[in-house]
Amino acid sequence: RKHLLGLEDLTREEIVAILDTADSFAEISQRSRKKVPALQGRIVFNLFFENSTRTRTSFSLAAKRLSADTQDFTASSSSLSKGETFIDTARNIEAMGADLMVVRHSTPGAPHLLAQHVNCSIINAGDGAHEHPTQGLLDLMTIRRAKGKIEGLTVALVGDISHSRVARSNIWGLTKLGARVILCGPPTLVPKSLERLGCEVAYHLDEVLPHCDVVNVLRIQFERQAKALFPTVSEYSQLYGMTQQRVLKGKENLLVLAPGPINRGVELTPEVADGPNSAILDQVTNGLAVRMAVLYLLSGKMESKGAGGDSSAE
Ligand code: CP
Repeated sequence: RKHLLGLEDLTREEIVAILDTADSFAEISQRSRKKVPALQGRIVFNLFFENSTRTRTSFSLAAKRLSADTQDFTASSSSLSKGETFIDTARNIEAMGADLMVVRHSTPGAPHLLAQHVNCSIINAGDGAHEHPTQGLLDLMTIRRAKGKIEGLTVALVGDISHSRVARSNIWGLTKLGARVILCGPPTLVPKSLERLGCEVAYHLDEVLPHCDVVNVLRIQFERQAKALFPTVSEYSQLYGMTQQRVLKGKENLLVLAPGPINRGVELTPEVADGPNSAILDQVTNGLAVRMAVLYLLSGKMESKGAGGDSSAE
């Protein structure tokens, strides 16, 4: 594969191959923080047209750990402000030698558009409410490492599903790997029509929790709401906020995930976010390994001798 645009496009086997490669990188990282030479001579450009803390920095770090050269493109100080188009911007960056472009944009399909107009590999780092494939992969990796499997688990995605690209990538990834997926939130944020994606829709979190091995608590995306949140923030927290009391309603060792950034006290209490069931910071750590795996595999390393272990080949 040349691009990573969404988990909808990947087969079960391709997803498992990425997770296995990420596990190898995680083990290498645990042993040593030394760089591996796998992407020496390659250039990775980060094109973020929306803000980011985790995704942008972990892609930069992942590229550096693989010995690639990295460059951040900052949309706000670029010639986009003079009217240069999105496609021309990307083609100019490609002309500087970019081998891989990591693209985040508020418009669904923006990375797919670039993939049609440049020759380098495109990685979708989040396109509007469509997909965020590396977040989906790091969520899968975190679940698999914590629970030892994904097949047969029940995973609830809780909250603002309508506006969530993380939800869509989770749905594709989890269902392909054999999990039962329940979408839970108010009908205003969780349309019943999403059942067409192969998951269930439920509106009462307290009834869903006893079936759950994992809950992935999604942020209310205030910036993408057309109007004020309905129900109100306090009503939402009361009905769907993850409290310690609710954690105890889940199956034993309920795993609590949240992609971040989190609205503390809205989708989950600080006690849960920082408590023993939370894997929120493990997700961030695993994100580095997943992004190393994606960069490595897209740069054509799949056939080489193994994740980062082929230093003699470089
Ligand atoms: N989870 C996630 O995508 O975080 P950032 O927006 O900080 O990259």
